[in-house]
Amino acid sequence: MGCETTKDILIPKNPIDTVIGQERAVNYAKICVKQKRHLLLIGPPGTGKSMIAQSISNLIPKPKEEIVVTHNEKNENKPLIKIKTITEIKKNKKKEKVGTYIDPIYVPYFVSEALGFKCKRCSKLSNAEEWVCPYCGAQKYQLAHDILGLKTTRKDSIDSTRITNGKEERIIFKREGNRILSLTEKEEKKVKEIELKLKEKTLIPLDRNPFVQAIGASETELLGDIQHDPYGNHKKIGTPSYLRVLPGAVHEAHEGVLYLDELSSLGEIQRYLLTAMQDKKFSITSKNPTSSGASIKVENVPCDFILIASANINDLPNILPALRNRIRGQGYEILFDTVMEENEENKKKLFQFIAQEIKKDGKIPDMNLDAAEIIIEKSKELAKKIDNENGYSLRFRILNGIIRMAGDIAVSEDAELIDKTHVKKAIEENKTIEEQLSIKHSNWYSTEMSDFAFKKNQTGREIL
Ligand SMILES: Nc1ncnc2c1ncn2[C@@H]1O[C@H](COP(=O)(O)OP(=O)(O)O)[C@@H](O)[C@H]1O
Ligand SMILES: [Mg+2]
Repeated sequence: MGCETTKDILIPKNPIDTVIGQERAVNYAKICVKQKRHLLLIGPPGTGKSMIAQSISNLIPKPKEEIVVTHNEKNENKPLIKIKTITEIKKNKKKEKVGTYIDPIYVPYFVSEALGFKCKRCSKLSNAEEWVCPYCGAQKYQLAHDILGLKTTRKDSIDSTRITNGKEERIIFKREGNRILSLTEKEEKKVKEIELKLKEKTLIPLDRNPFVQAIGASETELLGDIQHDPYGNHKKIGTPSYLRVLPGAVHEAHEGVLYLDELSSLGEIQRYLLTAMQDKKFSITSKNPTSSGASIKVENVPCDFILIASANINDLPNILPALRNRIRGQGYEILFDTVMEENEENKKKLFQFIAQEIKKDGKIPDMNLDAAEIIIEKSKELAKKIDNENGYSLRFRILNGIIRMAGDIAVSEDAELIDKTHVKKAIEENKTIEEQLSIKHSNWYSTEMSDFAFKKNQTGREIL
């Protein structure tokens, strides 16, 4: 290889090329985006299901429609849906544009960081739509959920102050796709006024991330909701119905991809998901019958998405059969490989994997290649032990744990590189953790094991 530590190993820039050993799944994922097919990824934890789903997110074409919810003159409780095309929006924007677009270079660092432009690790600026920094590979923001149901930790708007003519003035920085719009307090008020005058609210903006991940698997998160308002629809003090409509992940994924991790955990909600997929429309109603929003309903909210879902093989019986039929009828079910053939090319890929993990972690030093060899040996051992096959194990979560632990041991010893002794120690420690886990709470380790039992009973790899 002509290099001695993982530092010299070239890591592909494109996230999809960092996926190792699942060529088939990667291939189908690409096809699905191109041909608008659904995809169910089945495999044990830590084999790259989420990784594949996320890495195709930059292949999704930009949305062409904006979904707007408007006041209904005839029935205030039945707000209406309006779909705006790019041309319509551009025409209107010109007329109404308030505020000034500003280059991310010129905003305070905490603003460009919060809005997803600036990388916290290397401080370079990049496209706010990309959650991984293209310069150093660090995650600029997490794609996750908090209690408010936000899809990323990136903010859409942030407040700051500036001094103008000796007076402090509030200034609002709003992210619009990959641009920053700055608004003074007055201008922000104007925007709100325009919204009120038009009696409409943008439910799903044109400039959006077309890759939507629903993690919480709650009904409101997936299907939308009507905000509760203690004053109900009171003419003067209540919030008008159309302003209380909250879209679900199925709506946010309109024209894009909806990624659902652990499909079976949706339980009964799978039925609604199926309806949404069949109709490509799903009404938004209040999910709380005692809420003041219970009388409000928005019909026919578009949700034409590609579903990418993942599941563990043990959970297959908990997936709604009709939903699986739908996915198979309009897409594919792919069973993940758990072992790859032992050869030079694949060995190189494992070295690349180790280098990737070290870089991704960001807190551990590089590794000597002879130490990396031990991890590769371990991967062979795992293939034999868990899957009873010859080759390299693709159960990367286990290897991940070892790399990270070896790195932490090296750091605790102030070592500049991870060497053989660190890796050996980590493997020892890791073993005890596996053992502890299999005894205490069976979930993680026993999933791996029962998965193995399942495989032994199967001859074919396909579940079709
Ligand atoms: N096939 C793979 N190639 C490279 N790295 C992988 C692969 N599978 C897992 N990993 C590593 O393990 C981490 C966890 O994998 P993830 O995609 O979340 O697994 P899953 O969704 O199948 O449980 C990934 O972020 C990546 O660092
Ligand atoms: Mg996952």
